[in-house]
Amino acid sequence: MNDQIKSYAKRLKLSWIKDHFDEVEVASNREYLLKLFEAEIRQREERRMNLLLNQATLPTVKGKPFDWNEVQVPPGMTKDNLLYGQFMEKQENAIFYGGVGVGKTYLATLIGLNAIHKFGKSVKFYTVAGLVNRLLEANEKGTLPKLFKQLEKLDLLILDELGYIPLHKQGGELLFQVISMCYEAKSIIITTNLQFGQWNHVFGDPILTEAVIDRLIHHSHLVVFNGDSHRYKESILQN
Ligand SMILES: Nc1ncnc2c1ncn2[C@@H]1O[C@H](COP(=O)(O)OP(=O)(O)OP(=O)(O)O)[C@@H](O)[C@H]1O
Ligand SMILES: [Mg+2]
Repeated sequence: MNDQIKSYAKRLKLSWIKDHFDEVEVASNREYLLKLFEAEIRQREERRMNLLLNQATLPTVKGKPFDWNEVQVPPGMTKDNLLYGQFMEKQENAIFYGGVGVGKTYLATLIGLNAIHKFGKSVKFYTVAGLVNRLLEANEKGTLPKLFKQLEKLDLLILDELGYIPLHKQGGELLFQVISMCYEAKSIIITTNLQFGQWNHVFGDPILTEAVIDRLIHHSHLVVFNGDSHRYKESILQN
């Protein structure tokens, strides 16, 4: 009979029940069923969470508290709104602007982690250069539609480090396609060290740059990071 139960549980894709149905000690049939269902659901949720976390490829965080002192939270928004990604409810965007080591990547990562843990959202973190390389590669191999399908499933796309590396023409165009696809359909967080006026240097083409900025800043929140590099401060403290 055990084999039969295992085989049915497998067919029904109840993997927790398949492996553990005979370990649950309860007083009644109903309680038994309830315990099995609860454990099955818990296992599925854990798996989904792990899948979302693995897929997101977020940078690792050290777990030290985020210092908001030098961060200008946009008007009408609170720190918590931002941290818990409220802008995602309406598929709005956030642009994190500031110098090096001020916490742009750190905050974007924390928002990504919350979106996964608290709301089960689908998140993906790329550096701009990393995404553009993937796009160019997929374009060469003819797998661009597949990559776009994956991106279409996301709730939040984090594009880190716009501005550090200029993009070639084709790279800029492909990135524009991604941004267009996300427009009003999902949220993007972009981190950058460049003011909009200088984005031209990244995309190379003024018309393309204008089209990118137009889509990104419509429904977007600008978060300005001031102050000195925390990396620098941390390295001084360690010496
Ligand atoms: N506001 C902050 N609160 C706490 N720690 C911070 C903050 N900003 C930066 N740090 C620390 O400094 C490190 C570097 O920060 P982060 O990578 O977020 O900088 P960045 O703004 O993305 O810089 P870059 O433009 O060079 O990528 C973080 O890993 C973190 O340890
Ligand atoms: Mg960074």
